[in-house]
Amino acid sequence: MFKLFVNTKKQLGHINPELQGHFSEHLGRCIYGGIYVGEKSSIPNTNGMRNDVVAALKEMKIPVLRWPGGCFADEYHWKDGIGPKENRKKMINTHWGGVVEDNSFGTHEFMELCRQLGCKTYVNGNLGSGTVQEMSEWVEYMTFEGVSPMASLREENGSKEAWTVDYFGVGNENWGCGGNMTPQHYANEYRRYQTYVRNYRHDRPIYKVCCGANVDDYNWTEKVMETCFQAPPFVHGFMDGLSLHYYTHPEGWEVKGSATEFDEKVWYKTLKKTLYMKELIEKHGAIMDKYDKDRKVGMIVDEWGTWFTCEPGTNPGFLYQQNTMRDALVAGINLNIFNKHCDRVKMANIAQIVNVLQSVILTDGEKMILTPTYHVFKMYSAHQDAELLESYVETENIGLEEEYMVPNLTESVSRGTDGKIHITMTNLSVEKAYEIEGELAGVEILEVEGTVLTDEMHAHNTFTAPDTVCAEEYAGYKVVDNKLVFTIPACSVLHLSVTVK
Ligand code: AHR
Repeated sequence: MFKLFVNTKKQLGHINPELQGHFSEHLGRCIYGGIYVGEKSSIPNTNGMRNDVVAALKEMKIPVLRWPGGCFADEYHWKDGIGPKENRKKMINTHWGGVVEDNSFGTHEFMELCRQLGCKTYVNGNLGSGTVQEMSEWVEYMTFEGVSPMASLREENGSKEAWTVDYFGVGNENWGCGGNMTPQHYANEYRRYQTYVRNYRHDRPIYKVCCGANVDDYNWTEKVMETCFQAPPFVHGFMDGLSLHYYTHPEGWEVKGSATEFDEKVWYKTLKKTLYMKELIEKHGAIMDKYDKDRKVGMIVDEWGTWFTCEPGTNPGFLYQQNTMRDALVAGINLNIFNKHCDRVKMANIAQIVNVLQSVILTDGEKMILTPTYHVFKMYSAHQDAELLESYVETENIGLEEEYMVPNLTESVSRGTDGKIHITMTNLSVEKAYEIEGELAGVEILEVEGTVLTDEMHAHNTFTAPDTVCAEEYAGYKVVDNKLVFTIPACSVLHLSVTVK
């Protein structure tokens, strides 16, 4: 029996819905085919957006969407993607598969997509190959309501009303595909570019995201914070957020490994590598703390997830991969980590939303399937806008190799906007279920509801068997002397929703 302890009287921070954010890039079949099919498509759509995909994402409560990249962002020139579609430039997508980018999905289409989804917008600007003027004009085009050249151009293109840009990234991976810059060089460029990311709407200030480190590049964080952070009394300093990118590659960057064919050793290796996210957040966070003691700057983990070898027979530049129970565990573990660090992590965007890397949705022509990762996001949506509660679970180390031992369980607990206590837990063991005794100190348990996602480690959904892995109602709990006693199945992600008084 493992003990779970929840202190319902101790709230540790607010869980931004954006911790469950998503990322869409002009990459492979993410935008084209996956989200956008155009008005004339035989696939049911609204203004070109697939109805099935939009409905599923709304059902999952997508809070925010990042676009247009990724590496694509630092080669994207936004004016290529506005105006009559027949006049838009056709060009090569140099980063991703060398395919033709016809720019039929541009700023207006992205804003329309977010309108349909009812989610916040996160636009990533081009610092690597774009000019300050270009970035500045894009912000003016999107957000300025008065009389100006860009506002008039927007109106000519069919949108009189300005849009809201909630988050704006000033470059992406500028240590790599976004210009191969040194931290000092980027930091100075960042200061210059962000100056012209104007807040035209003071009621809705743009949250500026500075490009942060790749994995454990702590020197990048140090140098960028040193140069770009402005201590109080500057209320709106140079930066609101600093990004972090970390992908889980079980077999390293070169080999990566299959998404569906792996043994137990690789299972534990993958989960061990995923758990590294905690250390990264804490170490980068400690550097940020040196400058930003009040934790005003958010850590924005705007790319994370599994990155496997692409599915055999698909374009390697498209990064299309299947999604198994292993991905579900990766999602559950990371979302628990983000919740537990919600005092610093203000947004996280899994890569990428449809048909690319660890997707929540896969499509094949008119067909669509929901992946195990989708079900985890839906279960965790109960944490959106909730208050994190102090919690702790006893664990033991499990695994097959000394180097890749992992705790059997991870958890996070919050008090939701519905007043209920939401417990999410992952069981990392391939074969063992565990009995848990949960103490919710300070409350009386009235009612419990549960949802579980569990299956064999390779289990996944396909276009011919789309419902192999689905979240199910869970009834493996009882309340004994005001303690919540439950069994978490092997290889599972569990959500318990507890009504209390
Ligand atoms: O998500 C795929 C790519 O990974 C992104 O374009 C880039 O930012 C990262 O290296």
